[in-house]
Amino acid sequence: METQGSLENYVSVWNLGDSVCIQMALRAAIELDVFNIIAKSGPEAHLTSKEIVSAIPTTNPNVAAKNLERILKLLSVNSLLSTSLKPSLNDKTPQERAYGLTKNALCLLPNEDGVSITPIIMSGSEMHAMQSLYMLKHSVLEPESVPFSKFYGENFYEYMSHKPETFSLFNKLMRTTSYLYFDQKVLKVYRGFEEVKELMDVGGGDGSSLAKIVSMYPHIHGINFNLPSVIAQAPKYQGVKHVSGDMFDSIPKTQSIILKWVLHNWDDEHCKKILRNCWEALPETGKVIVVEYFMLPEELENTPETMQILKGDVIMMAFFYGKERTIAEIDNLAKCVGFIETKIVHVSHGTYVIEFLKIKH
Ligand SMILES: C[S@@+](CC[C@H](N)C(=O)[O-])C[C@H]1O[C@@H](n2cnc3c(N)ncnc32)[C@H](O)[C@@H]1O
Repeated sequence: METQGSLENYVSVWNLGDSVCIQMALRAAIELDVFNIIAKSGPEAHLTSKEIVSAIPTTNPNVAAKNLERILKLLSVNSLLSTSLKPSLNDKTPQERAYGLTKNALCLLPNEDGVSITPIIMSGSEMHAMQSLYMLKHSVLEPESVPFSKFYGENFYEYMSHKPETFSLFNKLMRTTSYLYFDQKVLKVYRGFEEVKELMDVGGGDGSSLAKIVSMYPHIHGINFNLPSVIAQAPKYQGVKHVSGDMFDSIPKTQSIILKWVLHNWDDEHCKKILRNCWEALPETGKVIVVEYFMLPEELENTPETMQILKGDVIMMAFFYGKERTIAEIDNLAKCVGFIETKIVHVSHGTYVIEFLKIKH
């Protein structure tokens, strides 16, 4: 075995080690409105950094254009901008590089449903996200402590209850993920809502996903259950009643429960508490419908999808001491608290609907 890596190996590791530069260059471009500025010039538009800067309020446009160009170049080699050459007005440089939107960049702009990936990018690069990930090693050194809570002295949900901007961005992030994975994928494949009469969305965010389910299945009586601070700000939706409480104390009696992207926030002991409270809230014939987007595969592959799941898993550890799980792990949690049967519906890579039943159907 060779004892030393080649320069290629060093460069590859170096590129990994400072990949935060790409994340922050993307964040800066979003904050500077670069993608919208290019989009406003037309579908195939290519703009030079000077042209982009002319739409940005800056104190020194010449230097700003040069600095912006450095950010744009980095984004272009990461498939976020395409480049072309334009004749220049400047005699010294006959041509200037111009930047256009790639298909990836289009994901940063609102689509026909008004959804873009921007809230996900912005949430992931907020100061508190950086701070929690910066302290990741504490998850190993003091395995009982959560990096986020260690730094901020409270859990992320308590923190958001007095940080309106973070709460608003988090809600947008949740609506975006729900759109991408739930509305576009789960609702097209999963048919288990047909037999449901009453559905309580435990940890159901602002209630928008439940409203979507009820609009597709109008026979369902929807109840959105969340912390009082969340319910106090939840908009009204037709067919959805908001109820406040704490899922770790108790969950009101109901015919069926959906836990969408909730269990991955918590460690096994907290998940068992939630599931035990679900078990107690349900009649014999009731079911819990668990929706998870990033279930861990048994085999690790070097694919963008698996990378996304594993990054999600580390983020859960930094923020909540939560984790992404395999099907076997999640099934085990349900069996521990008394659910008899598990039904699994595979939706798409990593995305599953898992039903927990109290009796065999
Ligand atoms: C990751 S979000 C998922 C939101 C929503 N289900 C979705 O898929 O968009 C987790 C949700 O759990 C809620 N939550 C956290 N702690 C809770 C508690 N103790 N009782 C009830 N809900 C809680 C949060 O307010 C948040 O809405």
